[in-house]
Amino acid sequence: MDLTGKTVLITGVGSGIGEATARVFSAYGANVVGVDRDLDAGQKIVKELAESQRPAIFAHGDVCQEKDIAGAVEAAISRFGSLDCAVNNAGVEGALCSFADTRVEDFDEVISINLRGVFLCMKHQLKHMAAAGGGAIVNMSSVMGLIGSAEIVQYAASKHGVLGLTKSAAAEYAARNIRVNAICPGPVETRMVREIMESTPEILEPLIENVPAKRMAAPSEIGELAAWLCGPNSAYINGAAVPIDGGYVAI
Ligand SMILES: NC(=O)c1ccc[n+]([C@@H]2O[C@H](COP(=O)([O-])OP(=O)(O)OC[C@H]3O[C@@H](n4cnc5c(N)ncnc54)[C@H](O)[C@@H]3O)[C@@H](O)[C@H]2O)c1
Repeated sequence: MDLTGKTVLITGVGSGIGEATARVFSAYGANVVGVDRDLDAGQKIVKELAESQRPAIFAHGDVCQEKDIAGAVEAAISRFGSLDCAVNNAGVEGALCSFADTRVEDFDEVISINLRGVFLCMKHQLKHMAAAGGGAIVNMSSVMGLIGSAEIVQYAASKHGVLGLTKSAAAEYAARNIRVNAICPGPVETRMVREIMESTPEILEPLIENVPAKRMAAPSEIGELAAWLCGPNSAYINGAAVPIDGGYVAI
């Protein structure tokens, strides 16, 4: 796949799936605009890409802050002339605990980053892409956006919400040559999963045991799907929630 000349904005570029996705897009020739609230981690990845692969810039920001997101979209256009693709990936999991014990503050924080943050990103990306004549957006949901999950209600609710944003934007913007899809990963080997594995292995171990493939995904496998969904070979896929889960939701 050749994405030479395309510019992609990726949130949560400083770690895990976001980092791997940036490397995949860069390897296919795209210019990368990386966004993260973690200044050091985000800057490090983007610097590496710019030195070894394709042009890349870092936009330090929090997806909960509209001015940061507007600034990142503006930075993409002023540096590279356009914003063709976006991967809205930044997310957090929140505390694992029973529904009734979930703290309202924790619920609000996860919804603010995982759902409201994706909304803010899409709002500014869609505005620019519609004016420029088209584009492709990929939002990071989860298998927990497709099925319920005990003891992590804030996360499951936020990821179901991401699918609502995805389908609504796909319906509205198809006529303006913009496709919007979501990726629903099962467990992926990143910090998020390593921390859950360390704190509450009794939750994660049975989950992985239930994956027909009997393994987690590598972050780069998610990045490859994101790049394909932004590329020309997926031109008729729009409004989809694509599982990448080793068969987890199939059984
Ligand atoms: N790891 C998994 O098993 C898995 C499975 C399904 C879905 N996901 C989703 O994939 C996405 C990436 O997860 P990951 O495992 O790579 O996590 P990660 O913790 O390794 O990376 C997340 C990155 O997002 C950044 N970030 C967090 N909040 C932010 C904010 N408010 N503004 C800007 N940046 C912010 C962090 O600094 C970090 O660099 C998340 O949306 C997650 O819900 C992960």
